[in-house]
Amino acid sequence: MKKICIVGTGYVGLVTGTCLADLGNDVVCVDNNKEKIDCLKELKMPIYEPGLKDLVQKNVKANRLSFTTNLKDTVEKSEVIFIAVGTPPKENGEADLSFVEDVAKEIAMGMKNYHLVVEKSTVPVQTGQRVKETIQNFVDGSVEFDVASNPEFLREGSAIGDFMQPDRIVIGVETERAKNILTEIYKPLNVPIIVTDIQSAELIKHASNSFLATKISFINAISVICELTGADVEKVAEGMGMDKRIGRSFLNAGIGFGGFCFPKDLAAFIRISEKLSYDFELLKAVEKINQEQKELFLKKIEKALWNIKGKTIGILGLSFKPNTDDIRFAPSIDIIKGLQKDGALIKAYDPYAMDKMSKVLKNVEYCKSPYEVAKDADALVIVTEWSEFKELDLDKIKKLLKNPLIIDGRNIYDSEKMQKKGFKYICIGRMKT
Ligand code: UDX
Repeated sequence: MKKICIVGTGYVGLVTGTCLADLGNDVVCVDNNKEKIDCLKELKMPIYEPGLKDLVQKNVKANRLSFTTNLKDTVEKSEVIFIAVGTPPKENGEADLSFVEDVAKEIAMGMKNYHLVVEKSTVPVQTGQRVKETIQNFVDGSVEFDVASNPEFLREGSAIGDFMQPDRIVIGVETERAKNILTEIYKPLNVPIIVTDIQSAELIKHASNSFLATKISFINAISVICELTGADVEKVAEGMGMDKRIGRSFLNAGIGFGGFCFPKDLAAFIRISEKLSYDFELLKAVEKINQEQKELFLKKIEKALWNIKGKTIGILGLSFKPNTDDIRFAPSIDIIKGLQKDGALIKAYDPYAMDKMSKVLKNVEYCKSPYEVAKDADALVIVTEWSEFKELDLDKIKKLLKNPLIIDGRNIYDSEKMQKKGFKYICIGRMKT
C-alpha cells in the first residue's frame, strides 16, 4: 500500500485515483476547483462514466480515497504524486502547460522526504525534463526526488475497465527506485509493464493516439472511395481487419473522431514536430480528412433534403461517442451548427449529454425520447451510436417521421433491411453516390 496524491480530478485524475484506491492504496485527490471538490466530497460525480460513482463511494467508505484542495499538505504526506491536470490546446494547437508548471512548483514547495512525481497528463515529449528542472528550482535542496512518465490510455465510457485491464502499462523512468515504486503499484493488475526512458514513454502516448486517429481517417477516406465505386466499407474493414497485422478495431467509418483527446493530441503532436523542425505531413492529412468527413456528411443531408431552409431535422446522439456525456469536440456540434446556418430547425435527443449540450447550443428543441425527435421531422440523423438507437422500433419511427428518411453517420443499421422497411436510408461508405 502506497500513500498517493493525484493532482487534478478530470477524467484521468479521478479515474486513476479511484482505481489506485481500489487496488488498496491510500489516495488523496487534489483539485484547486473548490466547487468540484465539495461535490466529490458529497459523492456527486462531475462526469458521467459507467461504474465510477459506485467505485468512488466504495473507496471513500473504506477510507482509502478522499478529496481536498490542499496540495501542499497532501504532497508532504505522499510518497507518489501523479500530475493529472489539464493540458488544454492553445490557439495554435500547442498544449498549454501552464497548469503543469504551476503544479510542479507547488509540489516542490510541499516536498519533505523522497517523493516520486509522475506525469499522467498527456504532455509534449520532453515535459518530464522541464518538470524535473522546475522542481529542482523550487525544492529545498536536500530533498531527494524522481520524475517519471506514466501515460494513461483509458477511453471515456470504458475508463474503469481500461484502467484495470489495460493491454500494457508504460513507465518512463530515470532510476531503479522510481521503476520499483511504479511496478509495485501496478503489480496487482498483472499485465505487461514496459519500462523505458522518460522521453520514450511520452512519445508512446503521442504515437499511439496519432496512430489510432490515422486508422480512423484512413477508413473514412476509404469510405469515400467506396461510395464512388459502389463498394461497402463495412466489408472492406472486415476484410482488412482479419489480417492480424492490421486488426479490425478503429476501422469504423463514420463522421470522424471527436472528444477531448484525439483532436487535441493530434494538433499538439503536429506542433511538437514542427518545433523539432519535422513537418509531420501524414498527421496533417489525418486532421484534414477528419474535418472533411463532417463536411461530406452535411452535404449528404443537404442532398437528401434538397432545401434545408425551414425543414425540421431530428438529431439522435450528441456526445462525441456512446457511454459518455462528454461533448467536447463532438461532431454533433459542427453538424447542428452547419444545418442551422442553412435554416434548419433542430430537434435532438441524447441519453446523457443533453444537459451539457443545452448550455452550448440553445437554439435546439431537446426531446425526451428518440420518438419525440422523430415526430413530424423531415429527416432523422444518427450522430452517435448509442446502443438504444440500435434497438428502436423502426416501424413506429417511420410512422412518426414526415418523410421516411434516415441519414446515419455511424452505420448502425442494415442497409437492406432499412430499404425493405421502406426507408430512404443514407449511411457512410455503403452506397454509390
Ligand atoms: C482516446 C484513446 O482511445 C485513449 O487511449 C486515450 O487515452 C484518449 O483518447 P476516447 O477519446 O475516450 O479515447 O475515445 P475513443 O473510443 O478512442 O474514440 C475517439 C473518437 O474516435 C470518437 O469520436 C469515436 O467516435 C471515434 N472513432 C473511434 C471512430 O470514428 N471510429 C473508430 O473506429 C473508433
